[in-house]
Amino acid sequence: MRGSESHQHGHTARRRAIVVAYVAVVVAAATVVLVGCASPSILRPAGSAAEDIRTLALWVFGILMGVLITVWAILVYVIVTGRRRPESEASQTKGNLRIEIVWTAIPAVIVSVLFVLTLITTERIVSVDPVGTQFTAIGRQWWWDFRFPSLGFNSPNEVYVIQGRPTSIEVLSADVIHSFWVPQMGGKVQMIPSHVNHIAFVPLAAGTYLGECSEFCGAQHGNMRFQFVVVSAGKYSAWVRLQQQPAAEPTGAAAVAGKQVISSVGCGSCHTIRGTTLHGTFGPDLTHFGSRGGIGAYTLTNTPANLLRWIQDPQAVKPQCKMPQIPLPLAQQQQLVAYLEELK
Ligand code: CUA
Repeated sequence: MRGSESHQHGHTARRRAIVVAYVAVVVAAATVVLVGCASPSILRPAGSAAEDIRTLALWVFGILMGVLITVWAILVYVIVTGRRRPESEASQTKGNLRIEIVWTAIPAVIVSVLFVLTLITTERIVSVDPVGTQFTAIGRQWWWDFRFPSLGFNSPNEVYVIQGRPTSIEVLSADVIHSFWVPQMGGKVQMIPSHVNHIAFVPLAAGTYLGECSEFCGAQHGNMRFQFVVVSAGKYSAWVRLQQQPAAEPTGAAAVAGKQVISSVGCGSCHTIRGTTLHGTFGPDLTHFGSRGGIGAYTLTNTPANLLRWIQDPQAVKPQCKMPQIPLPLAQQQQLVAYLEELK
């Protein structure tokens, strides 16, 4: 008898520990969701679509927490009241039509509310007029080809748009399926070869936001990032004027030598530098490379030391990327770095 009693005690204690652990996990998860993780969190929206999505997410979370709390409350009530009469049997309620109708109707109403809220959100997101800042985003293994054909320039891996005005983006891919995503601006859009998708939203808060690929696209999927910069109309015009300029003529001695090197070692078969003899289209346009913050789609930050590392061995920095290693003496590598960093 003693043995079986202590056995039962052990069971109860273990069950209580499991329940406590479960509650702790749920509370911790809810805290993380509500507080929001570090930037770029979808819970800190800075664009119209992201704001609509967050509002929907909070409604869904609230409704489902309501369901969870109600079910738990009923469960606890049943456990507590049931314990007072250990000898009695639960009453059997078979074929109670009213109860059947009630517990079919409640979930139907909840699902209908969620459905209508989702429809309203979707309608709000797709109703943004495709006017204002317009550009084309082409996904490539593994970088972002942002093109402004009507303005006459490309700006790989970094794009500026105007705060408070619609941004309209034509989205496609040059190789495999990628997905365009700026978490604080709005939802994801598939980038599909030979098929053009569109996304439009209004950037609401000025700032620099991380963009990333959200569809697995090969070895360097994780190193496929870009910067999405929201600025005033005046700053945007200044950026456009700068991007429209051809490449600056080098001034420093090393940079002048670097321009000779870059024209002679074959970089032009992949890269364009407007105003020079480089006209390749396979790799990123480098006309204003020095003005950008990243190297290799933000695999590295753009510093002379990092650029030297990149030129010396791209495969070590970003394995399987399409950039080949071109063997050059160190002095020439340093001249290349000096030239590229002057391309503001
Ligand atoms: Cu491109 Cu993942």
